Amino acid sequence: MDVFSALSNRHSVRQFSNQTIEPELLEKVLLAANQAPSNCNSQPYKIAVAQNETIETLRTELFAKFIHAIEMQQQPLPRKLFTLATKGGLPDGDFKVINKYPGILNQRRQETGFGLYDTLGIARQDKKARNQQMARNFKFFDAPVAIFVFVHEALGEWATLDAGIYVQSLLLAATAAGLGSCAQGALATWSSPVRRHFAIDKGYKLLMGVSLGYETDHIVNSYRPGRAKLCDMQFQQR
Ligand SMILES: Cc1cc2nc3c(=O)[nH]c(=O)nc-3n(C[C@H](O)[C@H](O)[C@H](O)COP(=O)(O)O)c2cc1C
Repeated sequence: MDVFSALSNRHSVRQFSNQTIEPELLEKVLLAANQAPSNCNSQPYKIAVAQNETIETLRTELFAKFIHAIEMQQQPLPRKLFTLATKGGLPDGDFKVINKYPGILNQRRQETGFGLYDTLGIARQDKKARNQQMARNFKFFDAPVAIFVFVHEALGEWATLDAGIYVQSLLLAATAAGLGSCAQGALATWSSPVRRHFAIDKGYKLLMGVSLGYETDHIVNSYRPGRAKLCDMQFQQR
């Protein structure tokens, strides 16, 4: 598969089959992604690869944390305050995962989200069903492998930029290898469960996760959100 085909074939997969990834294939994809360029070749990112029992435990732990957080939102204020004060189950990620999107960025975010729910037949006002779909993130959409991407805190934006290039390399290599993938910022909401399972070096912060596996023909995987026109992505010359 050439790079143009990989770029157009890659899409976010949100329902994986239970087929495991052959270790040699996973290694091939990781080796290919490792060719990603980075600032001064510093490679300021490291990954934690969860599979087998580890991914099963994380599936349970992260899902439970998300459900707890949703339940907390519905609690009366005193209980909410108590939970806040005791920090029970609150997001403990290394980065802020909820941001305010300005103007057109928010419009694109909403259109993309609603498009996904429309594909799934979820009504826009059906918060419960939307939460249930959101919760699927924390089950890694049933993927057999989850890759948690960490960046070194010392390099700030540069490390984030390098990690972004690394992640896209990983996604494209996975596509070329016949694997489905989903980049997930949601997987940075809680870092403590991942840190319990992996010995993360000092200074590394959890940026995001990527679920990997084989795609099913579930309707959710047919969703292809559009992109801005080229002219809208370019500043006009004065
Ligand atoms: C940094 C990043 C974070 C993302 N986080 C999530 C996520 O938490 N959950 C999810 O379902 N998709 C997530 N996505 C997938 C985007 O929604 C998706 O890439 C975008 O809508 C374009 O669709 P496509 O990947 O199918 O082309 C993320 C993608 C990126 C690059």
